[in-house]
Amino acid sequence: GVRRDLDGRRVMVTAGPTVEPIDPVRYISNRSSGKTGYAIARAAALRGADVTLVSGPVSLPAPEGVRVVRVRTAHEMLEAAEEAFRDADIAVFAAAVADMRPRAVSDRKLKKSLDGDELGAIELVENPDILATLAARKDRQVVVGFAAETNDVVPNAEAKLAAKRADFVVANQVGEGMAFGTDDNAVWFVDAEEVEELPRMPKSRLADEILDKAVQFLR
Ligand code: PMT
Repeated sequence: GVRRDLDGRRVMVTAGPTVEPIDPVRYISNRSSGKTGYAIARAAALRGADVTLVSGPVSLPAPEGVRVVRVRTAHEMLEAAEEAFRDADIAVFAAAVADMRPRAVSDRKLKKSLDGDELGAIELVENPDILATLAARKDRQVVVGFAAETNDVVPNAEAKLAAKRADFVVANQVGEGMAFGTDDNAVWFVDAEEVEELPRMPKSRLADEILDKAVQFLR
């Protein structure tokens, strides 16, 4: 049977990529499918939680019983997550937020050559860090971060745990055919006390493992 250990609890999840427009037809984004965040939202709802899923553009159906807030840019995701975070008991940041966005969004399609190679020089500025911004305001919320790393996965995750003030970090190795878009994943749980290596498993089962660990931090 399904555990109802999140009855009466509020869970917020960010999922998917953000999309940062360059001009009317181009954007900067990444390969996140949303599968991880959607699996966590679905599992939390099945365990009895009131769930808000703040989702970048993905092609997945809304999980049953989950409130989905659809956003495009990192700024929109921050705004939606801010509101859901306030009331949350558990906040999981599974989204792959674009770290940078074009400084200006052109209202006409940029040209390759006619106007002096506009496409060769798109100026980028930093996006807000949604996890770090919200975790700095936490009172009761259990904060679960992710760390997507191509190398030195655990040391980099430990640095993010401290810098972003998460209660624990789900660290994963990313690269060709790994983590982004796949149906399964192999991760490490990194908290202030220990590092736990989990075997490769479907993202649906990983979702329950993440919630099991988050429940241990509930006050
Ligand atoms: O969506 P899938 O196809 O299932 O793929 C899953 C995944 C690879 C996207 C997922 O497992 C994952 O690793 N998500 C985090 C991706 C990421 O952007 O990680 P990061 O190491 O760059 O960021 C660290 C943490 O800060 C993350 O919790 C991220 O959500 C958060 N962050 C980062 C930048 C930013 N501007 N705002 C944030 O909130």
